[in-house]
Amino acid sequence: MDLNGQNAFITGGAIRIGRAISKELSKHGVNVAINYNNSGDQAEQLRQEIIQNGVKVELFKADISDIHGLPELFAKVKQSFGQIDILINNAGIYPRDTLMSLKTDTLDPLFAINLFAPLVLMREFAKQIPDDGHGKIINIVDAKIFKNDPETFMYRLTKVGLWEATKLAAIELAPRITVNAISPGLMMSLAGYEHLNMQAVAERRVPLKILGSPEIVAQNVIHILKQDFMTGNNIILDGGEYI
Ligand SMILES: NC(=O)c1ccc[n+]([C@@H]2O[C@H](COP(=O)([O-])OP(=O)(O)OC[C@H]3O[C@@H](n4cnc5c(N)ncnc54)[C@H](OP(=O)(O)O)[C@@H]3O)[C@@H](O)[C@H]2O)c1
Repeated sequence: MDLNGQNAFITGGAIRIGRAISKELSKHGVNVAINYNNSGDQAEQLRQEIIQNGVKVELFKADISDIHGLPELFAKVKQSFGQIDILINNAGIYPRDTLMSLKTDTLDPLFAINLFAPLVLMREFAKQIPDDGHGKIINIVDAKIFKNDPETFMYRLTKVGLWEATKLAAIELAPRITVNAISPGLMMSLAGYEHLNMQAVAERRVPLKILGSPEIVAQNVIHILKQDFMTGNNIILDGGEYI
């Protein structure tokens, strides 16, 4: 697939991993429709930066936990960009819980953001790809799904679901659309955990003894987008942590 002039829609595209993906897409000539929710200032700063790459960039503020509003959101993106060729389901939240600490009121937003929104967006994306057209979907999963550690119990369930949905959709949407996943491992500290020495954690847990980065994820997004014979795949970027 020649990426130049393609149109991409990315959720949670303003900060961290999503930001790196938005930037990398624009460097390859891809027009980017960036969804954000709370990170309005970062989104606007990113828009001004990557528009310099000569691509079209627009921001779409939306809380994707409102899954009933997603068809309208996608229609707005399509109205502005025309056919969307690439969908990146990147937005996600990362609550820590176990089965015994489960609070039922947190389940709906967690599953809506991490799993149901990607499903609805995959459907909306697939509807607008013509019978003789081609599209590519990438779902950002998590290398944690390869280990059954009950820490982050519900989060893992959503990401296992997203990986299973990736394979199911790869079969259902072939041959028009490829659907692949990227599973990042240890990358950078989360809000509230900035005190952690992440390099030390990597030396303890990661065979390659280094941290990943948003840029590595973004480079692998481009790699997947350039492949035409790859679907239902999951690129694990974890330095060997979950072998
Ligand atoms: N960082 C890691 O080490 C790591 C490892 C494995 C997997 N992942 C996965 O990689 C993806 C990105 O992670 P990250 O660490 O870069 O992001 P993050 O710091 O966890 O931020 C969450 C992202 O999701 C968006 N988001 C959350 N709730 C949303 C909502 N209701 N509506 C719209 N957007 C929403 C946020 O947008 P706003 O800020 O605009 O609200 C933000 O872009 C996630 O799916 C995560 O599970 C990350």
